[in-house]
Amino acid sequence: MIEYKKLSNGFEYIEIKNSLAYAKIALQGAHIFHYEQNSKEPILWLSETSDFEIGKSIRGGVPICWPWFGLNKDDSLPQHGFARTSIWGVANTDERSADITLITLKLEYSKESLKLWPYKFELELHVSISDRLTMELKTTNIDEKSFEITQALHTYFSVSDILHVAIRGLDKKPYLDALTFKKEIQSGDITFNQEVDRVYQEVSDEVLLKDKNRILHVENEGSCSVVVWNPWIAKCKRMSAMRDDAYKSMLCIESANAFEDERVIKSNESLTLKATIY
Ligand code: BG6
Repeated sequence: MIEYKKLSNGFEYIEIKNSLAYAKIALQGAHIFHYEQNSKEPILWLSETSDFEIGKSIRGGVPICWPWFGLNKDDSLPQHGFARTSIWGVANTDERSADITLITLKLEYSKESLKLWPYKFELELHVSISDRLTMELKTTNIDEKSFEITQALHTYFSVSDILHVAIRGLDKKPYLDALTFKKEIQSGDITFNQEVDRVYQEVSDEVLLKDKNRILHVENEGSCSVVVWNPWIAKCKRMSAMRDDAYKSMLCIESANAFEDERVIKSNESLTLKATIY
């Protein structure tokens, strides 16, 4: 089942149900803000105080950071780019079987986007909803000149208790600590007892999120960088659309092309960043 919904403020989203999963995708930002496998706890975290307002990114789910990740050199431009607050179109829906629903959303350059970023592009998000959530973000350069992008599928995961989770698969990987701007090397699993904001590099294998009662898998393609983030106590209080104690029940593992993993896309060429979560 695919249903189109609209909130009273005009905010539109699609609800998808099949025999294995249930998901919701906002047209603003092609933002998946709910995903659960049947009769299991939701995999994605969504802030209880999130805004569903046009022009404001939803706090939770999978924001799409594009065409830049993080701050822009020009600080008048929005953090994490403009794709997450742009209105995308639905290019295709396909109820492939009782178990699999495919949705493609599309964003194209416009007069407004050219003011923020002077390139002609086509951006597609191919989503597959089943017992796995698969997201493929395809950037096509339809300009005459090359462009550079950094990007992320900024996935917020729901966790039982931040003190009792571990991220496995990044041992010995170099990372940029965004809090100190120093380059470090990971030793062992990542656990949390303070703010963590890191861009891991040279990541080629899957990343595991070990929680009390489940292990989630994050498989990435077209990407060598993974961002791990939890705001902890002080930053959580400062964050928009987040309750003061929200840091206890979420963390982000972001499938990215960020920092040294910036990509150049030549005219008429495409690049796909893919993440599979289960
Ligand atoms: C993460 C960054 O990717 O996104 C953090 O590493 C940032 O530094 C976080 O705080 C949330 O960003 P925003 O723009 O959604 O508040």
